[in-house]
Amino acid sequence: MAARQHILIIDDEENLRHMLSVMLSRQGYQADTAANGAEGLACARGKVYDFILCDIRMPEMDGKTFLARVLADHPTTPVIMMSAYGTVDTAVECMKMGAYDFISKPFKKDEIVMVLKKAEERERLKSENSRLREVVAGRNGFSGIISRNPAMEQIFSQIRKVADLKTTILVLGESGTGKELVAKAIHHNSRRSAKPFVAVNCGAIPENLLESELFGHVRGAFTDASCDKPGLFEQADGGTLFLDEIGEMPPLLQVKLLRVLQEEEIRRVGAAKSLKVNVRVVSATSRDLEADLRCGRFREDLFFRLNVFTILLPPLRERIEDIPLLVEHFLTAHAADMERTQVRIAPEAMRRLMGYAWPGNIRELENVIERGMILSEGGVINETCLPQAICSGAGQGVLPESDEDLSIKRAEDAIERELIRKALHKTDGNRTQAAKILEISHRSLLYKLKEFGIS
Ligand SMILES: Nc1ncnc2c1ncn2[C@@H]1O[C@H](COP(=O)(O)OP(=O)(O)OP(=O)(O)O)[C@@H](O)[C@H]1O
Ligand SMILES: [Mg+2]
Repeated sequence: MAARQHILIIDDEENLRHMLSVMLSRQGYQADTAANGAEGLACARGKVYDFILCDIRMPEMDGKTFLARVLADHPTTPVIMMSAYGTVDTAVECMKMGAYDFISKPFKKDEIVMVLKKAEERERLKSENSRLREVVAGRNGFSGIISRNPAMEQIFSQIRKVADLKTTILVLGESGTGKELVAKAIHHNSRRSAKPFVAVNCGAIPENLLESELFGHVRGAFTDASCDKPGLFEQADGGTLFLDEIGEMPPLLQVKLLRVLQEEEIRRVGAAKSLKVNVRVVSATSRDLEADLRCGRFREDLFFRLNVFTILLPPLRERIEDIPLLVEHFLTAHAADMERTQVRIAPEAMRRLMGYAWPGNIRELENVIERGMILSEGGVINETCLPQAICSGAGQGVLPESDEDLSIKRAEDAIERELIRKALHKTDGNRTQAAKILEISHRSLLYKLKEFGIS
């Protein structure tokens, strides 16, 4: 069911306000009223309206002034001016300033409803259109990966260059940064795109099953092997195999995987002969693989095989300019899933989202938006619809209250400093452990301590 559309009615005539409000409520709108432009602005500050109906001649603040002020804050809100006798010229001026439409007073009831319905349809088409355009042009990203961040754009161009080669690629990044999305983008932009993309989470399959899962088995190879079964490598033949959580791969299988990658053939468990396979391997991990190398948990030779080309995804807190884009993206995507329309986010809530450190990165943001949509009232996600941690916890106070200093670098430094201080406090100053919970290397922790002058 479509969410109710919110409308603000601004007119100094009480009778007209009342009449419009009753009529539009009956039509299914959620209507608020204001007696002049100043009151109207106050309403628009606390809420996002789908439409605003505004009289032109009013005491305190007239319609034209209101229009200029409201468009400065909400440039896309459709404002429909109501012009009485003698204000038609002003109405035309308002149109030039960006008013959506105007209607002459006196009007019949169905006239105003028709203007609104038409505007509603036009807005719907407009948002649908721009969404499609964005998808097609990939303006805000690449292959479903939304981002306008320079580091990410560089990754997009790397993907374009490397997609068609058979090079094995290792995708690194914190949990929820989009590693699987990148693996899919590599596949879809390669000549292999018509062949299967097969993903396997190496950490989720019990060690004793992983080998037959990857390479298949023949009948009788073990107790449960009642028939021949191809493995994931065979299923991905001609396409791409995504080995997720590669850091979880048990040592014995690391050896076997290395051999498969070198020889480009697999042997099903229990089989006598090997089979040629043509598979492009992309692997990913959120673990610190280099630390695993050092302590011998991960084989160096396999690491170099997998890591011919590395893509390192920056965490969301290093690309906060992407947050509004991602929010918009998830609002649209989930609106389609939930069969709802027009859920928006209040500016204050957006500010909170941009000030939060996002340890779970984009996946966490996606969940927060989905939850926010469920809790939203009147089609708006307010601060109250956000989890406590975002409104009060980590990251608070890091973003400047005013917009005098908008340096991302300085805000990032402040977040980092705060997190490092917390980690050191939690570990009683143990730097090795602090580095671990900060998910950075020991070396980069030492470097940052020096940089920030923390001892
Ligand atoms: N840039 C992005 N644009 C749009 N959606 C994104 C982006 N990055 C991630 N997502 C979405 O966020 C969720 C998490 O992404 P993904 O599963 O690729 O992360 P991951 O790095 O593999 O996480 P994990 O390490 O936890 O497995 C997915 O639903 C994905 O579609
Ligand atoms: Mg993943």
